[in-house]
Amino acid sequence: MTESPRNAMDPAEETQIGRGGPRDLFSKFDPLIEERQALLDTGVRDPFAIVMDEVLSPTLAIIKGKETILLGTYNYMGMTFDPDVVAAGKQALDEFGAGTTGSRVLNGTYQGHKACEDALKDFYGTRHAMVFSTGYQANLGLMSTIAGKEDYIILDADSHASIYDGCALGNAQIVRFRHNSVEDLEKRLRRLPAEGGRLVVLEGVYSMLGDIAPLKEMVEVSKRHGAMVAVDEAHGMGFFGKNGRGVFEEAGVEDQVDFVVGTFSKSVGTVGGFIVSNHPKFEVLRLVCRPYVFTASLPPSVVATAATSIRKLKDAGAKREHLWKNSRRLHQGLRQLGFDLATEDAQSAIIAVLLPDQEATVRMWQALIEQGLYVNMARPPATPAGMYLLRCSLCADHTDEQVGQILEMFAAAGRATGCIS
Ligand SMILES: Cc1ncc(COP(=O)(O)O)c(C=O)c1O
Repeated sequence: MTESPRNAMDPAEETQIGRGGPRDLFSKFDPLIEERQALLDTGVRDPFAIVMDEVLSPTLAIIKGKETILLGTYNYMGMTFDPDVVAAGKQALDEFGAGTTGSRVLNGTYQGHKACEDALKDFYGTRHAMVFSTGYQANLGLMSTIAGKEDYIILDADSHASIYDGCALGNAQIVRFRHNSVEDLEKRLRRLPAEGGRLVVLEGVYSMLGDIAPLKEMVEVSKRHGAMVAVDEAHGMGFFGKNGRGVFEEAGVEDQVDFVVGTFSKSVGTVGGFIVSNHPKFEVLRLVCRPYVFTASLPPSVVATAATSIRKLKDAGAKREHLWKNSRRLHQGLRQLGFDLATEDAQSAIIAVLLPDQEATVRMWQALIEQGLYVNMARPPATPAGMYLLRCSLCADHTDEQVGQILEMFAAAGRATGCIS
């Protein structure tokens, strides 16, 4: 779409709107536009407008001409540049073309989509696997389809936006419980009317603070109250459990979880989403799940890279160990430097540094990027309890030397900005 030559904030337009005409639909964003402008007027770079000019490896990129260590990607297992993964994508591109131009239920299921679902079934040891175009759509699909208006979805208050949006798309009654509180979950379940289906939705790793769910207890309580359980393992896949299936594997509740939702955009290293399940009626979802039916399927090159990556993740025990080592060392190092961290110890590959307000967070973020370190900045409404965070996410490919450099950069930036003494 080309931009109108007239300024979008043309005063004549504003005047007309102000005179009893329809309300400017954009007016609700004015406070946000002003807040962002005020921030940029202080001379800082926009943390939400970073461009990677070149990507050299899973842990290094060129940003504004500077070689920068990446500590804010979800490339936990470093699969984006794996030679087998890249080769599989190239071959599929040559053999099957750039895209499918169709829905999974029409012309958009190629042998590669089936092979990818087979790789998932093998990885998870389940009877069924359904590949979506994104993890966001997998959650939209499950939440909006499985529970109808007589049913209840019981979810953690800190659930990912895609879980909330899936609930908004469907008709089920939504009940929230306090983040990671087994007690509150049980209380909410106890209060539900006896009739009506129940789906409890949990996440293995919560992505903002990097904390993990007490899945063993939560699944036990959910089952005792007759609920089905879905676990989103977006940030647990690849890293947790003997086979890398996720936190639910490590918690030993594999046979009690009804649905596992996941994404290819993190440990798998590409894009796409999925649900796996052993439920005997699972396949019917392919016919009724709107975010599966009414969208184009993934390109053949993407499913080929995903399938190759998933097969390799199964035996990636050494990488998992190195990622744990990196995560623990970074957590300990940052704590020793005096930073306030979201968790007592490293619970996952996400280490969230808590800062008092937006100004301090942006100053720290800026000082880090200038030294050549990229981390994610997170702020409300994406964060729980109005927190401001610098979110570090580690990769199995970060070398010991890089982790040392990261800690040095945090020390220098923290002192320069007064965030630590
Ligand atoms: C917990 C969780 N679920 C689902 C998603 C969606 O994944 P995708 O990037 O494949 O849409 C994300 C991505 O940020 C996530 O963090």
